[in-house]
Amino acid sequence: MADKKTPDKPKGKGRADTGLKVRVKTARGRTASSTRWLQRQLNDPYVVKARKEGWRSRAAFKLIEIDEKHKLLKRGQRVVDLGAAPGGWCQVAARITGSTPTNPLVVGIDFLEMDAVTGVTFLQKDFLDEDAPAALMAALGGHNPDVVLSDMASPTTGHHKTDYLRTAYLCEVAAAFAVDVLNPGGSFVAKVFRGGTENDLLALLKQNFAQVFHIKPPSSRQESVEMYVVAKGFKGRRAAPEADGDETG
Ligand SMILES: C[S@@+](CC[C@H](N)C(=O)[O-])C[C@H]1O[C@@H](n2cnc3c(N)ncnc32)[C@H](O)[C@@H]1O
Repeated sequence: MADKKTPDKPKGKGRADTGLKVRVKTARGRTASSTRWLQRQLNDPYVVKARKEGWRSRAAFKLIEIDEKHKLLKRGQRVVDLGAAPGGWCQVAARITGSTPTNPLVVGIDFLEMDAVTGVTFLQKDFLDEDAPAALMAALGGHNPDVVLSDMASPTTGHHKTDYLRTAYLCEVAAAFAVDVLNPGGSFVAKVFRGGTENDLLALLKQNFAQVFHIKPPSSRQESVEMYVVAKGFKGRRAAPEADGDETG
């Protein structure tokens, strides 16, 4: 596994080489779209690199790249990873924070199963369940996290508007959770779809964090509509202005 500080530099304009090297023959029982998917996987340099370096997913590189740019994760910090399976982001977070089985600092949640990641407490649970926030806090031993990450994505329906709204909703709930539990100075990262963060959510983040950015890491497929919102410098619950009261009062 590569040191996260020195991952191999992607080739050519900051991106990995995308030259097609492996051709997949169509096989009986395999649809044309699954043949295309397999061909893309086999030829995706980030998939190859993830396998070689021991990352659970190519998504690990997205967090590595976001963190290299924004310096969010630090040793000793507590991290919550929403939508954690198969575990790439958990691996990155555990490695940087120095989380161990005796001093676990990272908690992941997903409704899918996930093989254990060293130093990570995993909850197989729907984050949208009412008791999920309490379960996450209990798993953190009652300590507030310094970083809340969300790579959650709903299974795509192919209907763009539905997929956009579902992901936007997941991001909104993740942001509300972050604002409820983060330590002052903490950070929040979440997947959003192109077009960025919904206005209300962006306003919430700007109100509660010192800085808000959007980023499309080089390892995020160019054709994918995903990007990430990064909010840094959580102001703390008391510092948030009482805008609601002012406006409605
Ligand atoms: C893109 S994957 C995450 C990949 C992960 N960051 C990694 O590096 O391996 C998105 C995950 O979000 C999960 N997810 C979506 N909605 C969720 C929810 N409501 N509660 C928990 N997990 C959810 C999915 O099951 C899926 O595993």
